[in-house]
Amino acid sequence: MTSRVFVTHQLPGSRIDELAQLCDMNVWMGPGLLTPAGLRDELAGCQGLVCLLTDRIDRVLLDAMPDLQFVSSMSVGVDHIDVTALTERRIPVGNTPGVLVETTADTAFALLLAAARRLGEADRFVRSGDWTADRAWAPDFFTGKEVNGATLGILGLGAIGQAVARRAAGFGMRVLGWNRSPREVAGVEMVELDELLAQSDFVSVNVALAPGTRNLLNAQKIARMKPGAVLVNTARGGIVDERALADALADGRLCAAGIDVFEQEPVPADNPLLGLSNVVVAPHIGSATTVTRARMADMAAANAIAALQGQPMPSCVNPCVYD
Ligand code: DGY
Repeated sequence: MTSRVFVTHQLPGSRIDELAQLCDMNVWMGPGLLTPAGLRDELAGCQGLVCLLTDRIDRVLLDAMPDLQFVSSMSVGVDHIDVTALTERRIPVGNTPGVLVETTADTAFALLLAAARRLGEADRFVRSGDWTADRAWAPDFFTGKEVNGATLGILGLGAIGQAVARRAAGFGMRVLGWNRSPREVAGVEMVELDELLAQSDFVSVNVALAPGTRNLLNAQKIARMKPGAVLVNTARGGIVDERALADALADGRLCAAGIDVFEQEPVPADNPLLGLSNVVVAPHIGSATTVTRARMADMAAANAIAALQGQPMPSCVNPCVYD
């Protein structure tokens, strides 16, 4: 019998066509993103799912899908998927590490520079017509924070954290690192979390969201950050307490922030970070280049193809299901 596979969005890349040849494939064509109820309806009776990080794959959904045999997500993060529940059912979960490393590190550095040098404010200032003769070049006009020679603390020295460290070296920065498990990285001085927060002029969040990292930067930890520091988050919103961060930015304890990811996405208009001029925001675009997104889609398709062919996925977050 031909397997049925549901794909929750049209995907770029070339391998999705190959997948279509191997199964009865149904793709959500929109408009917009699929709702949880829509996902439940479309997935009923399917053996395979190719999804995005915007799709929530939880126990309630899985309980209604007795036929499901694999899940392949076009993302490196899998916090939207209850991997434990899938592992219990011996269902492999695929993800897309590696291919988005450099692109996401570029975004982290872009946000670091934009926040330090006030590019969001400057852009709004020029466009709004505020750049007038009496508000123009002066010694203290739009002065920001020096990046060259500053100390950067990286939370999470996985592949993306290491790629951020390489960029920092090019800017003459001293790099401190903290990782949940011991790790040696050339050019990075590994320290305890509190020491990193106390010493760093810039902090880049690059850990995965997992039970052990949820709310890692809570109010207490944010209070330990060096006065005048800049925080950059391209990992996941749930790692940073947004209210505590907004308070620290509003009262001047922290200088600025560059935020690509939020606790709730799309971010609600009343999120406290949105009202602050010293926060540069982006709509979760860390991996958003055409080339990288095509590579991610190809990798998600390759995982699904392997599963359909009865082989281990090339990139599986719960390989123990094959034991
Ligand atoms: C991922 O794949 O988890 C990233 O957040 C996408 O940008």
